[in-house]
Amino acid sequence: MPVRRITKHGEKVLKTACPPLDYAAFKGELPDLLKDMWASMQSARGVGLAAPQIGLTLRLAIIDVKPEGKSERHVLINPEIVSLEGELNDEEGCLSLPGVYSKLKRHARARVRALDENGVLREIYGEGLLARALQHEIDHLDGKLFIDRIPFEERLPVLDAIKKAKLGWD
Ligand code: NI
Repeated sequence: MPVRRITKHGEKVLKTACPPLDYAAFKGELPDLLKDMWASMQSARGVGLAAPQIGLTLRLAIIDVKPEGKSERHVLINPEIVSLEGELNDEEGCLSLPGVYSKLKRHARARVRALDENGVLREIYGEGLLARALQHEIDHLDGKLFIDRIPFEERLPVLDAIKKAKLGWD
């Protein structure tokens, strides 16, 4: 079953910081797992998916911010932020919080270093949506959801939206 269920806000795995992934030990399982992750992300119409969102505490995430047009797939294993610059206040959502969106300030440009699916260390530079996705997915690997970054005084409407949206989650 390639399309996996996506974990939702309130499930413990989404609050768990993932330990570094041992690429050499894990590379045999990686191709099948990545196939499932791409299928799950596309089926849910997301632009990114982190391993905890399919219930796994692995430091692994995928991003494709151009699902409709020319695909630009990124596999991030043990990603680390190299630099963050600028500021952009834009709407954000998450497959683990379906139906919930909020404006959130993020850095406008991000440079990240990560192993790709072949174990090669790569640097990914993103602006706008890609920068946002890089920060969002790395947060997942640290056990953080985007709502955790919303300032306390702005959180009430978001908590209300979650309460309502939750009724429709699987
Ligand atoms: Ni997310």
